[in-house]
Amino acid sequence: MSLQKPHIITEDNIQYILGELKGNHILYDFDKILIYLDVKGKLLFGEKFKIYKEDTSILYKLCNYQIRDWQACKKLNIDIHKGILLSGPVGCGKTSLMKLIRHITPHYQSYEMIPTRNVTFAFNHIGYKIIEQYGDSRFYCFDDLGIEPTGRYFGKDCNVLGEVILSRHELFLKYKFKTHCTTNLNAEEIEERYGNRVRSRMRELFNLIGFDKDSLDKRR
Ligand SMILES: Nc1ncnc2c1ncn2[C@@H]1O[C@H](COP(=O)(O)OP(=O)(O)OP(=O)(O)O)[C@@H](O)[C@H]1O
Ligand SMILES: [Mg+2]
Repeated sequence: MSLQKPHIITEDNIQYILGELKGNHILYDFDKILIYLDVKGKLLFGEKFKIYKEDTSILYKLCNYQIRDWQACKKLNIDIHKGILLSGPVGCGKTSLMKLIRHITPHYQSYEMIPTRNVTFAFNHIGYKIIEQYGDSRFYCFDDLGIEPTGRYFGKDCNVLGEVILSRHELFLKYKFKTHCTTNLNAEEIEERYGNRVRSRMRELFNLIGFDKDSLDKRR
């Protein structure tokens, strides 16, 4: 990646130009971003990957967020300082999109995808230190919030991801550290699973971007 030209990305010796440089500002072109995402998606997930027309509005939001176009985000009611909570039914493509979208801005700090199940499994082995570990300055996307089992350490149950979100929320307030999540749960289910304290903090921590509940399962 060239530091002066982060909007020009090379894959397999082919250059993808995602926009135009105006002074020291990049004017991104959404259609060009989609062309690149189609290519990069195929490289990451295989030839079957494609950009679905019905996902365009989700992609538009995610892209504008990712490139930090604050004017577009304002219109979309997205706060650039918060993270993303990408919700939607099983198999609609949440995990793939979160893995993919970070590649359009090689000049910005990226995030690690962490399956929530791994967090609880680590908790069951190691204990409360794990919650501390995710309360650090790194940038995470917790993948599949809500499918993880309840944590259990030395005979004591713990809602591990609930605790992790509480610490991430504190970090957000103090230092503006961001966190992303994907989930199958809707707001009521989140409250049921994590309680209203967590749900209320999640509203502050995340912009909610939701697939339609009737979105296709792309595994089929
Ligand atoms: N745009 C796409 N084109 C083709 N296949 C896709 C696309 N997006 C996702 N897939 C495929 O569909 C399957 C489900 O995608 P993914 O895991 O991203 O969905 P998900 O919403 O995270 O599912 P879950 O709710 O089960 O976590 C995967 O096999 C993935 O490779
Ligand atoms: Mg997933």
